[in-house]
Amino acid sequence: MIAQRLSARRLQELLGAWRGDGHSYRELSESIGILVRDGRLPPASVLPAERPLAEQLGVSRTTVAAAYQRLREDRVVESRRGSGTVVLGPRATGGDRRPLGADEEISLTRASPGPWSGLPELGRRALAEHADAFLLDGFDTIGHPALREIIAQRYTDRGLPTRPDQIMVTLGAQHAIFLIARTLLRRGDRSLIESPSYPHAREALAAAGALVAELPVGVRGHDAASMLEITRRSAARLAYLIPDHHNPTGLSMPPELREHLIANLADQGAHLVVDETTAELVLGAPRPVLPFAASAARPHHHDAILTVGSLGKTVWGGLRVGWIRAAPDLIARLEAARVVGDLGTGTWAQVLGALALERYDEVLADRARELTAGHRALLAALERRLPEWSFSPATGGVSVWADLGEPRSTRLGREAARLGLRIPPGPQFGSPGVFERFVRLPFAAAGVDLTRAVEVLSRAWRGGRGSATPAPVRAELV
Ligand SMILES: Cc1ncc(COP(=O)(O)O)c(C=O)c1O
Repeated sequence: MIAQRLSARRLQELLGAWRGDGHSYRELSESIGILVRDGRLPPASVLPAERPLAEQLGVSRTTVAAAYQRLREDRVVESRRGSGTVVLGPRATGGDRRPLGADEEISLTRASPGPWSGLPELGRRALAEHADAFLLDGFDTIGHPALREIIAQRYTDRGLPTRPDQIMVTLGAQHAIFLIARTLLRRGDRSLIESPSYPHAREALAAAGALVAELPVGVRGHDAASMLEITRRSAARLAYLIPDHHNPTGLSMPPELREHLIANLADQGAHLVVDETTAELVLGAPRPVLPFAASAARPHHHDAILTVGSLGKTVWGGLRVGWIRAAPDLIARLEAARVVGDLGTGTWAQVLGALALERYDEVLADRARELTAGHRALLAALERRLPEWSFSPATGGVSVWADLGEPRSTRLGREAARLGLRIPPGPQFGSPGVFERFVRLPFAAAGVDLTRAVEVLSRAWRGGRGSATPAPVRAELV
């Protein structure tokens, strides 16, 4: 594996507000350990030398030396002659799951419902009724005609007339976002993203070489004036937005803001990439959600919008079926670019996806019920245990954005890890150094007892200490 040498400045950015009231060397080693476990410091990364890191962090060299020594003892890193301090693979650090006082570790790293309960039946039907799928050649970079037709028809029924040639089926929304980013952006192009936002979208923009500027979304709502001002002077080539039931706040954009954003961006020649992965996940009674692109007033405004959809959060993450809705010439460009990275969406996933979409109203009604119950349980537990925190008034989606009132999110994540609860700190949802006062709390967290999770979180917040080693945290933040 090729070594990635980390600058002291970059490590400081990744660490966030790591210093607490305890021993600095221990806090530093635990914070680096968490970065390794959650994948932000991948195996073979080379940590900065002790002296520059000490200077960058404003601590003594002895503190850094002691922290590195502890990491070596825990087999998180090793010293290699000529290379320095090198991060080991997660496996070497993964055998130490000893969460304190917990039967099992709890993970709030994923904000995603579990598999839809009707899936096994759809699987049986797929085999019984669609065995002809085995006759297809299977290299399908655009999507099966029947599935594209169903997806297009759903948009039309929801108030956005759509033809099948405007649809490309993808391997989920993340695939769609990165495919769009790497097709439409060139190195050094400017792009925009809401802040906070879904972290892997920001990573996709950055990986395509774009500069990423931010459109502020507050805990109480969108900062429309700033968003419009920024879009006016940004000269952005592309803006990535989650207008409905935004991840992580669960908020939706007011209608006037949509119209103005579309006009500002499209009139400058920018593309709007609209991620509707969580748009139809509503709280309360099921209700229709108008697609964002239906707010476009003019043909060239329509053509500027690429809508991303997915069955990942409504039906099942394991299906890996999503799509892009865009003007046919853009769809053709994306299809041509796609083959560099993959050779199409699996046939069986598409068969299952089409069957699930036939019952989509039922799927969405089931999700509304589950999410509403999860949201209620989360808020009740927070009211009891952490009444000093405040939250975004989510109307749907998968999570709320909590304002802790103090910039302690990174320390909270570390303290929680000691108690066997994995939760990503707020800065992971924005640019380095911001959102230390916030944390994402999923109410869709498959298999998690939210009451118990909040209990552990409140102990962590109040400084509950234990001797257990932090539990491993997975890299994906869905
Ligand atoms: C806003 C948003 N977009 C995209 C994704 C990725 O979706 P998929 O599983 O379809 O790739 C997620 C998953 O967490 C998400 O929350």
